[in-house]
Amino acid sequence: MANQEDQFKKVVSHAKEYGFVFQSSEIYDGLSAVYDYAQNGVELKKNIRDYWWKAMVQMHENIVGLDAAIFMHPTTWKASGHVDAFNDPLIDNKDSKKRYRADVLIEDYVGKLDAKIEKEVEKAAKRFGESFDKDQFLATNPRVVGYKEQGDAILKRMGQSLEKEDLADVKALIEELEIACPLSGSRNWTDVKQFNLMFGTKLGASADTAMDLYLRPETAQGIFVNFLNVQKTGRMKIPFGIAQTGKAFRNEIVARQFIFRMREFEQMEMQFFVRPGTQKEWYESWKETRLKWHLSLGMGAENYRFHDHEKLAHYADAAADIEFKFPFGFKELEGIHSRTDFDLSSHEKFSGKKLQYFDPEINERYIPYVVETSIGLDRMFLAVFSNALQEEELDNNTTRTVLKLPAVLAPTKAAILPLVKKDGLPEVAKKIVEDLKWDFNVDYDEKDAVGRRYRRQDAVGTPFCITVDHDTLNDNTVTIRHRDSMEQQRVKIEDLREIIKKEVDVKTWLMKM
Ligand code: GAP
Repeated sequence: MANQEDQFKKVVSHAKEYGFVFQSSEIYDGLSAVYDYAQNGVELKKNIRDYWWKAMVQMHENIVGLDAAIFMHPTTWKASGHVDAFNDPLIDNKDSKKRYRADVLIEDYVGKLDAKIEKEVEKAAKRFGESFDKDQFLATNPRVVGYKEQGDAILKRMGQSLEKEDLADVKALIEELEIACPLSGSRNWTDVKQFNLMFGTKLGASADTAMDLYLRPETAQGIFVNFLNVQKTGRMKIPFGIAQTGKAFRNEIVARQFIFRMREFEQMEMQFFVRPGTQKEWYESWKETRLKWHLSLGMGAENYRFHDHEKLAHYADAAADIEFKFPFGFKELEGIHSRTDFDLSSHEKFSGKKLQYFDPEINERYIPYVVETSIGLDRMFLAVFSNALQEEELDNNTTRTVLKLPAVLAPTKAAILPLVKKDGLPEVAKKIVEDLKWDFNVDYDEKDAVGRRYRRQDAVGTPFCITVDHDTLNDNTVTIRHRDSMEQQRVKIEDLREIIKKEVDVKTWLMKM
């Protein structure tokens, strides 16, 4: 646990020190759970967004994009169910006056049981060495089986109580598990209450005509209300999808874990409209496709798992999370939801406008069912960033901090470094920059010894360093150093573009799907 905490602290401080993520309005002591992306962060975030967009929109003939406004007519949120049901169960500790999400307190308790299981696995792996069979150990070790059963039973009861809105039982569970306030250590809790997560605002200048609005808590509704516009103008045939990326806002009760849970964040969502009755098959198919997208980035299959929901949102008939192993354990990274025809039917009812599709293949008119994939861009950023940050022992007894980002996502693809700041080397290096910048985000750096410049580039995840030296002047060759292996090769300047392209091209990575 302490190790996980240390690793997470390193992630947060590295993100700040190397220009990835800053606390919002830091000079005014910051704004809780709101963050700004700095010079390197904004590039990484853009590259993740592009990687998603290309996989979802460009590579699918039947998926198109949309960029709907953040402000939407207030009835949207009545129809979607968010006004009545977009709540989190909150509980206050009477001694520390700290507010918590009741479900998160319980999930954290179960997280500790998971950590105990992992410890048992680690110990056993050491004890049994090569012959260790993890699956068998998980299935048969009485202590591990006990922890697992206990955790499952707790989550099941919590899910059922939340489903039934039985908040008294959620409190009873917290008391039975003897969960204490992490701050005060006290178990002096208030009752559990529901808290709506939407931010309200007003549209219009005069007090009597101003309209109450909400900042959208998910981008999906912009897609639903435009469903027929897009279908008709794009002559889309079912099954088809509409994808969009954009900001969403939630007044989260628990603001912690850096950019994992923010009050202003970005989603990348796709609604896939299907014929009623086929949703189950599309739901399974999108679960598989989305997991493949994650795996294509090479961040380790062992770091992902599916979690099927016990408690379904008000709109879903099936739902699963793709969980990722963050520095603080496995947590939701993406949701795949079978949303039935809930949203379109409801918008039809509230707007009085038909939102139906005529299916020429079966000669029938119907409200389509929807399978949704929804991933938080900031959460994906945290997954990629925390997975990439490594400290390596080198042969010469030194260490290096390296951000082993998938090259396709790296903010800067190559740094061009003149060995010395004289003898015409900077001029040659700048010419290479001028040439490569048409295709890649590249950096020029002439300050400090070349070893230090390598370290700086390692720390921001640049896959290639290209060094111009005196031999370059004679034979037009440069040294190219690979970030992960630290291997160096002598190559012709004219070959640089192809060498870099091979490693950073979206196609190279998406082909692994
Ligand atoms: N349209 C469905 C929807 O919004 P969700 O599970 O509430 O579903 C989808 O959110 C994804 O958005 C989550 O899997 C997560 O990655 C991201 N997300 C949700 N709340 C977030 C928050 N407060 N901060 C950062 N990301 C968040």
